[in-house]
Amino acid sequence: MESNLPVGIFDSGIGGLTVAKAIHDILPSESLLYFGDTAHLPYGDKSPELLQKYALEIVEFLLQKKVKAVVIACNTASAVAYDFLKQKYPDLILFEVIQPAVQEAIQYTKNQRIGVIGTKTTIFSHIYLKKILDLLPTAFVIEKATPLLVPMIEEGWIRDKVSKEIIEAYLSDTGFLHIDTLILGCTHYPLIRTEVEHYFEVNALQKVHVVDSAIAVSKKVRDFFSKSNLHSNKLKGNLTFFVTDLTPSFQDTANLFFGQNITLQKIQL
Ligand code: DGL
Repeated sequence: MESNLPVGIFDSGIGGLTVAKAIHDILPSESLLYFGDTAHLPYGDKSPELLQKYALEIVEFLLQKKVKAVVIACNTASAVAYDFLKQKYPDLILFEVIQPAVQEAIQYTKNQRIGVIGTKTTIFSHIYLKKILDLLPTAFVIEKATPLLVPMIEEGWIRDKVSKEIIEAYLSDTGFLHIDTLILGCTHYPLIRTEVEHYFEVNALQKVHVVDSAIAVSKKVRDFFSKSNLHSNKLKGNLTFFVTDLTPSFQDTANLFFGQNITLQKIQL
């Protein structure tokens, strides 16, 4: 395996940029090849079968471009397509975002009450519930689908009146009253992390630790590359971006995240 090859990363839209940025921050010498499937956004209310088809096409594309590993930077695709992809490509180094977030939540929780928010497809798969109970069978898990958050974030409605009200409407569910850990089970949500934290600072009965899967998976990638001698020895990695539809919000967010003018290449699979 050529360690200077890029790492492929994919999501439906800007959410996976939170993962790409976290990997770039922690591993700046790695080249990243990002694929944003913006033409099919949102993933969060699509069927597992359709999402598996999209994931397969994207991984094929990334493999043709020659990547050394693939990160599914999307909870929805991780929930319904990780096992499927692993079966299709048993030798591929493949990361998903759910297990790393679960492990971090388990480490943090003291009262064993953990909240999870995510898209409908992620939440209704109950993958978080299963994975948390596998590691901590006595945990109490409250899962809530929060489908308006992805379009809100893609629309750029962050830190304003609209986002405050929508976040409040979801998090005021009494089930969240006693949690001490909340998993942001969608890679779009780190963009509203401070608002979520603020909500709990004002309203929660105890301190709530917020787990962000972007940071959790970037540590997993780093540790795996160290263990397998797969770190790039370049001084600085290249950043390449492909999207299936050019959207202003993707362009703005990519520029903002990486502090430079990012060139987006439009591609049809
Ligand atoms: N960012 C994705 C996730 O983590 C998908 C959001 C969407 O396209 O609905 O679930």
